[in-house]
Amino acid sequence: MTKLTVIGCGYLGAVHAACMAQLGHEVVGVDVDEPKVELLASGRTPFFEPGFEEVLQSAIGSGRLSFTSDMAAARGATVHFVCVGTPQKRNEYAADLAYVDAAVAALAPHLAPGGLVVGKSTVPVGTARRLADAITEVTPGALLAWNPEFLREGLAVQDTLHPDRLVYGLPAGADGEQARKMLDEVYATPLADGVPLVVTDYATAELVKASANSFLATKISFINAMAEVCEASGADVVQLADAIGHDGRIGRRFLNAGLGFGGGCLPKDIRAFMARAGELGADQALAFLREIDSINMRRRVRMVDLAREVCGGSIVGRRIAVLGLAFKPNSDDIRDSPALNVAAQMQLQGASVVVTDPQAVENAQRKWPDLRFAATAEEAATGADLVLLLTEWDQYRSLDPAAFGVVVAQRRMLDGRNALDPAAWRAAGWTYRALGRP
Ligand code: UDX
Repeated sequence: MTKLTVIGCGYLGAVHAACMAQLGHEVVGVDVDEPKVELLASGRTPFFEPGFEEVLQSAIGSGRLSFTSDMAAARGATVHFVCVGTPQKRNEYAADLAYVDAAVAALAPHLAPGGLVVGKSTVPVGTARRLADAITEVTPGALLAWNPEFLREGLAVQDTLHPDRLVYGLPAGADGEQARKMLDEVYATPLADGVPLVVTDYATAELVKASANSFLATKISFINAMAEVCEASGADVVQLADAIGHDGRIGRRFLNAGLGFGGGCLPKDIRAFMARAGELGADQALAFLREIDSINMRRRVRMVDLAREVCGGSIVGRRIAVLGLAFKPNSDDIRDSPALNVAAQMQLQGASVVVTDPQAVENAQRKWPDLRFAATAEEAATGADLVLLLTEWDQYRSLDPAAFGVVVAQRRMLDGRNALDPAAWRAAGWTYRALGRP
């Protein structure tokens, strides 16, 4: 058992804190946001994440998990995870490191020699080296490791307890050996389960995260580029993805064409990566990511164009229902959500848009109060001239085209996620259109 603090209790930190307590460690979650601290301490979650509330409550019940806004709590622990956000800077591609720097500055005076700071936030390569120097300047003998996090929202608990791999970025020499020993103890359970471990230096660990996200973004934009060619040639991108996906070297996962990627990670991480490569004089190496970003953003424009086309040339005054607001299913996260972006564009272009989502309505309402919100797909679609499926929640995938057709004014469905069966919807009298399909 190790005594841990987890600094920053957002999607990443809160889940990490609860899961580490579940693994038997004694954990204090630290966050500057007092209402959030109170909510978490009472066993309630500030965001929707399947399975998280159960782990949170059981960890609190075990007496091994608590939350505070007082950084002095770090004095009672030996390992300190930094899980604060690194959003995109305003008007720039680069990551904003203000929260990371503030967290480390607040933590450093509470460290003891031999105490270990573990960075989990996604940061530009070179940050760990700089932070290690800053920490030892305040507390000589304190250690730093970089241990990037790969969790997916919606699967955060599973990804934390059973990760695909663990990566340790360590300093050289005896400090590195000491840090490794401490991390091995923290992750004893997943390591015993056989989770692969890669032990490396700071820069490589930082780059693993940036390149993994770039690869995933590239895979999605690749298939969306194929969708553009399919649209131009009358081919079917879903069948194409199935066919190339059978090649084990390519693989079918993350090859779903549609509205493209969004969320709090992929878009800002590829931009921050480009910005950092520029600073390092390696901008040519990542020039392709600019294209990945453009392909991705073009899908949103194409979706609105398709809506206009299906409505006979104009969406002005049309009643349009949007199913899905979260950036992906099983999440209430609307950060850079393609679905919300498309809904807002159509509203700004004169359509009367009614939106719904099983979990993200509250967040979307705060961001776009001008949209009209409905509790269910049926309510959103009542009297609609057009329905758009933009986040592929299971309840939308399993809609019955015949029954659903009764509430709408016009049976027109745009499937932004290639989540529905075209034949079934057409057979029920719907005009069905999707991205990348005839
Ligand atoms: C991502 C990475 O997967 C994770 O490893 C990293 O730590 C953080 O960023 P997340 O943001 O939770 O995780 O979402 P992810 O499941 O990767 O999906 C990202 C976006 O891509 C979503 O908007 C999703 O709808 C879209 N997507 C995904 C596609 O458009 N097509 C696909 O085939 C897969």
